[in-house]
Amino acid sequence: MSNFIYVDGQYYRKDNARVFVNDRGYQFGDSVYEVVLFRNNIFYDFEDHIHRLRRSLKSLDFNLNKSDKVLFLICKYLIKLNKISFGSVYIQVSRGVFDRDHSFNKMKLSPVLVIITKNNKTDFLRNATGINAITLNDTRWKYPDIKTTQLLPNVLAKTEANRKNAEEAIFLDDKGFVTEGSSSNVWILDNNDNLFTRNLDGSILPGITRKTIFECAKLNQIKIIEKKFTQKELYNAKEVFISSASSFVTPVNRVDNKKIGNGEVGFFSKILRKTYFEIFE
Ligand code: PDD
Repeated sequence: MSNFIYVDGQYYRKDNARVFVNDRGYQFGDSVYEVVLFRNNIFYDFEDHIHRLRRSLKSLDFNLNKSDKVLFLICKYLIKLNKISFGSVYIQVSRGVFDRDHSFNKMKLSPVLVIITKNNKTDFLRNATGINAITLNDTRWKYPDIKTTQLLPNVLAKTEANRKNAEEAIFLDDKGFVTEGSSSNVWILDNNDNLFTRNLDGSILPGITRKTIFECAKLNQIKIIEKKFTQKELYNAKEVFISSASSFVTPVNRVDNKKIGNGEVGFFSKILRKTYFEIFE
């Protein structure tokens, strides 16, 4: 149970945790965030997540006046308070609170840090049985490599997926190439057992899990090619999986109702999922 939430310097019971209506994160989506996985007393890739958080902040021209160490200690304390053994922390930083105005020029703002924990179901640890996905046009803004809370296209896409009995929506750019999932990076294995993931060309989030999967692949002598691939290549892949701090490595069995391979979880997805957890423990 996640009972306590950190808001701007204090720990509140969930029902009492509040942000101001003039918080720019609330009014404009003027905030950035990270999700960090936690298991067996270890935060997965904590430093990389905080590094990306600072990069997002910098890209949007604001700053968080807290050291990495302090952020770590707050997260650790919250995990302890909420008795999480397997879950995640959600870290959000908004630009601050001020009377509503689009421009923040000359506003005296102090960024607001919010941290929320989440419990994962332990059965998620077993071999995932695989999910269904749909494809959709990527209607997001031009900087999806910045991890902001402006997530309406992602929210609508995931909702549409759920309405179609799928768990993830995979975005396609205007040339028909896969960008990424609504909250994950996308991978395909071709018939020569090469693993493809889109290169970091600014049209996807540089996933931290994606980065760690490079290590996992190396340990298993799997070759990764960073190159964009089409919807057709996605349909014809031997295996498809998604990656993120909340889905780890999750196999995709069907895309747009078409079976991927034989429609069952593939060997490489299984191995990479297993290695992903082993690498930290
Ligand atoms: N999302 N692409 C998008 C659009 C994402 O939202 C995410 C993660 C990823 C994977 O990034 P990482 O491996 O660093 O988690 C890729 C988080 C989990 C979320 O929004 O809840």
